Amino acid sequence: MVNVGLIGCGYWGPNLLRNFLELSNCQIKAIAELDDSRIDYLNQKFPSLPTTKDYRDLMNGSIDAVVIATQPRTHYSLAKEALQNKKHVLVEKPLAMSVAQARELIELANKHQRKLMVGHTFEYSEPVRLLKKYMHSEEIGRLYYLYSQRVNFGIVRQDVNALWNLAPHDISIILYLLEKMPVMVSAKGVDFLQKGIEDIVFMVLHFPDDVIAHVHVSWLDPNKVRRMTLVGSEKMIVYDDVSDAKIKIYDKGIKKQNITESLGRYDDFGQYQSIKFAGDVILPKIDLVEPLKNECAHFIECIQQDKDLLTGGDNGLRVVHVLEAASRSMRQDGKNVAIEPLETFVTAE
Ligand SMILES: NC(=O)c1ccc[n+]([C@@H]2O[C@H](COP(=O)([O-])OP(=O)(O)OC[C@H]3O[C@@H](n4cnc5c(N)ncnc54)[C@H](O)[C@@H]3O)[C@@H](O)[C@H]2O)c1
Repeated sequence: MVNVGLIGCGYWGPNLLRNFLELSNCQIKAIAELDDSRIDYLNQKFPSLPTTKDYRDLMNGSIDAVVIATQPRTHYSLAKEALQNKKHVLVEKPLAMSVAQARELIELANKHQRKLMVGHTFEYSEPVRLLKKYMHSEEIGRLYYLYSQRVNFGIVRQDVNALWNLAPHDISIILYLLEKMPVMVSAKGVDFLQKGIEDIVFMVLHFPDDVIAHVHVSWLDPNKVRRMTLVGSEKMIVYDDVSDAKIKIYDKGIKKQNITESLGRYDDFGQYQSIKFAGDVILPKIDLVEPLKNECAHFIECIQQDKDLLTGGDNGLRVVHVLEAASRSMRQDGKNVAIEPLETFVTAE
């Protein structure tokens, strides 16, 4: 039985709490929350769960693992203290607010031989896993480009901009799918509502082999959209997380055909003709499991069986590395910023 303490129970914390409560191999020992109204909610809904306003109450010997669901700017210091107190840590995305902070957390996890996991929830999502299977079965041929939209009407954040709040998901999905780091990024964002906190961001990631990815994030949009489109030489795939048909595979593409033979050698009309093809649209059956359920179960299993985490510190570091470079680009009005290769990290996992 793994004894878990939860820090932060605002909007997202209750989802983590519900999933950990459903697991039979762990128990929630206590919840730390600063906000009185949230404490009242917890005391009413879960009267047997101890609550505290002081997270340090969770750093004692009766707790094995700490789950951090507080605002991003607090992640580093809370995770650091938990690791120093020899707790396993699951920290919500983003892992930290800088590469230096992320590296320090990884080193601490190594030093104390504890698991450090980041909540990149979509890497635990069945549709995203299926997407990867299709990509790597060469079903879509050569990947030309992909683009992702994660927009909604709210929640407007005050501690971080839309890039750091929303794009960690898109970046983690894209890195998971492509299994490589981008080499360059450019990003533009605009702060309409609060000075210095961008509400919308458009980011372009350049990968090796001329693959390009565009990410659009916003909390200032009339509709909730969670969609990623992948265009390959053989097929095109749309992953729509808010639709019933989460994955649609389009047998569509454009082939170039040599028409010299049919036109004769004296023709100067052109050597190639673009031929469009459009076949079936396939909607694969997906056994849906709540991604967060998979994520929470994985965290506990990796602690108990000392297994490698799918989204450990290195994974969190890679996403923060991209976010940091994208922020640099935004400060330079969208200038291309190189993403330096990360040296391999040996993590605790
Ligand atoms: N994985 C996902 O899909 C997903 C979705 C939403 C949010 N998140 C992440 O979850 C985290 C929390 O987001 P949220 O929307 O719940 O934010 P929120 O502001 O609604 O909740 C954060 C809570 O943490 C509490 N808190 C802050 N510092 C504390 C401390 N030192 N001790 C105790 N409590 C403290 C606050 O009082 C607040 O209630 C963020 O990192 C966010 O990026 C992840």
